[in-house]
Amino acid sequence: VLVRAPEKAVQEKGAQEKGAQEKGAQEKGTAPQLAGLAAAADAACGGALTRAMAAADFTGKAGSSCVVLAPGAGLRRVVLIGVGNREQGGGHSLRDMEAAGGAAAAALLRDEEAALATDGMPASHAAHAGLGAMLRSYRFGLYRTKEPADQAPRLKRLVVLTDDVAAAEAAWPAARAIAHGAALARDMITEPPNVLTPAVMAERCLALRELGVEVEVLEPSALQDWGALMGVSQGSANEPRVVVMQWRGGAEGEKPVCFVGKGVTFDTGGISIKPAAGMGDMKYDMAGAGAVIGAMAALAGRKAKANVVGLVGLTENMPSGTAMRPGDVVRSLSGQTIEVLNTDAEGRLVLADVLWYAQDRFAPRCTIDLATLTGAIIVSLGHEHAGLFCNDEALAGQVLAAGKATGEGVWRMPLGEAYDKLIRSDIADMKNIGGRPGGAIIGAQFIQRFVRGPWAHLDIAGMAWATKDTATTPKGATAYGVRLLDQFVADHHEAGRAPGRETGREPGREMGG
Ligand code: BES
Ligand code: MN
Ligand code: ZN
Repeated sequence: VLVRAPEKAVQEKGAQEKGAQEKGAQEKGTAPQLAGLAAAADAACGGALTRAMAAADFTGKAGSSCVVLAPGAGLRRVVLIGVGNREQGGGHSLRDMEAAGGAAAAALLRDEEAALATDGMPASHAAHAGLGAMLRSYRFGLYRTKEPADQAPRLKRLVVLTDDVAAAEAAWPAARAIAHGAALARDMITEPPNVLTPAVMAERCLALRELGVEVEVLEPSALQDWGALMGVSQGSANEPRVVVMQWRGGAEGEKPVCFVGKGVTFDTGGISIKPAAGMGDMKYDMAGAGAVIGAMAALAGRKAKANVVGLVGLTENMPSGTAMRPGDVVRSLSGQTIEVLNTDAEGRLVLADVLWYAQDRFAPRCTIDLATLTGAIIVSLGHEHAGLFCNDEALAGQVLAAGKATGEGVWRMPLGEAYDKLIRSDIADMKNIGGRPGGAIIGAQFIQRFVRGPWAHLDIAGMAWATKDTATTPKGATAYGVRLLDQFVADHHEAGRAPGRETGREPGREMGG
């Protein structure tokens, strides 16, 4: 059950002083009052929940929870989840509801069936609590053959109780589609690189056809002019693929939005090989592609009223006798030549060709690429924000707003002529590296040379993988970008509001034009 903090406890919390807060919990009148279904459950258990809250000093603070075992009335486990006070800022945000749903799922993992009471809250809150629960209970169990039964999660069904069933049922399919898209992305990103080769990843994209997405796989024979991408892949025994996924939910003939993802299924660095420590992390160097695929699944799953094309460049980056050498010059699909001075700066080579192709073929309204492009962006922004590089103020505002609305952090980074100069080559049109300082910007600057029209680049190297659990994400692949891209489409490329879809736009504050 979701428990609101009482007025008083929140005021004390506002004092930002731990002592005061703990004292506040003991003060008369600050204990959270159970209402609705929670009160009914409490009464059925003879007040066991109220007693447990007092014994645990539970105040209902957002993010807090209190587990009550066998309280009576035949209940196995009751979890009280604090959602703070709705007087704070005029209502719980949908993010708070997702966190609460996530906390519920985490606490109830060992129960086969559970119910989550959201009565007294709007239907959208019920849907987002369900979304949070689904996101948090994601698990990748494919390769576990001997997990002890007393440790395996058992939760099969979580029923969300709500006052307005019809409205909640209308809101749910969109939320569920997002959860499915995120799970699809996480599945791919988590797969080991021996399993998820470019060909296998492309094959898995075909599953989107069931959702009504048109999926085309470009084989190496169709990629002969893609010199930058082929340069990266030439050292690998696993051939590259490019996948084009079209969702036509918008008006016939309306120009699409393009999403482009870096899909390096394993990045050894190539001949400019990476150090051994941590190299295994580079299985998630296809997380940008994973996010694009997951977003396409989410958009199709909720029948978004927009035309969207997702393109992913899938390749391995391996050292071998056929691998690209530092010093090689390749000719990109655009015709521009690139001196490859570091084979580990491969993501930009892949994106150069896929971006060029996307713009050439689809003349998109705008293009957003996602890539685990640089370690430098992790130095800049840590694991809280992806770096946003953008050549269009309106688009930048929209991407930032989508990040805010979904809780997927985005921070704008600069582009500029002075950085572009750093990738001038003595013998080709450009080189693929430009020195350590401003490394993420240089990567973006390189990509910009293959861009026409409004474009945003998200460097997600610090966001694709989490080393600890958060409210709605178990540690591991985060599927960062799936929700942001979906929200971006919902807010800016769907004519009206799709039914049952929450908008992230704040009323009266339109971003960009
Ligand atoms: N895939 C890496 C970037 C990366 C690092 C992703 C850490 C996720 C976590 C990328 O291909 C790479 O190797 N970049 C180089 C660029 C450099 C050679 C200019 C880097 O960041 O060191
Ligand atoms: Mn690399
Ligand atoms: Zn890489």
